[in-house]
Amino acid sequence: MSSAVFYFSKSGVSEKVAKNIAERLKCPCTRLMDTKSWKGPLGFVKGGYYSTQEKLVTLHSISVQPMDYDNICIVSPVWASKMVPAVRTFIRLYKDSLKNVHIVFTLAGDNPSKAITNFLQEVPNAEPIAFKQKSVLNNSYLNDLYAFIENFSNLNDE
Ligand SMILES: Cc1cc2nc3c(=O)[nH]c(=O)nc-3n(C[C@H](O)[C@H](O)[C@H](O)COP(=O)(O)O)c2cc1C
Repeated sequence: MSSAVFYFSKSGVSEKVAKNIAERLKCPCTRLMDTKSWKGPLGFVKGGYYSTQEKLVTLHSISVQPMDYDNICIVSPVWASKMVPAVRTFIRLYKDSLKNVHIVFTLAGDNPSKAITNFLQEVPNAEPIAFKQKSVLNNSYLNDLYAFIENFSNLNDE
């Protein structure tokens, strides 16, 4: 069975996780980019506002078609206890055609539960996991990540 990774990353943490997953699964890794600027203090405030309000954004086109894969792994930072606008937009665009969805959150704090609950409202059967930014940066998250994606690997072997 085939897998593909899609991610958004502002400061590189989720990108590191996404690339790790794709390397492990030997599958495509696609960055989701939108047309907004999230830079600086203003970008931070705007990001929090867009996430809280569940606003959608315009995504740059992607060459990998998510509906062509059996397993989709999405990696998103937590913004204001929710998924980022680019990931919400991606989900809204494709969710009816996605098969098995796995969501990996990265966050600065301790509590991903609101973000996970909010994601599951959009994709009820998704498999969630979350990693603290600190554990990604010092690589202590790797064992847990590999256990999470072992599922994919097994499926890929079938
Ligand atoms: C606009 C904004 C809002 C954030 N809100 C939260 C939050 O509610 N809870 C949390 O734990 N971390 C929050 N963070 C921190 C990010 O989730 C964390 O640093 C993440 O790992 C960054 O991923 P990235 O480097 O891939 O962008 C926020 C960061 C930004 C920029």
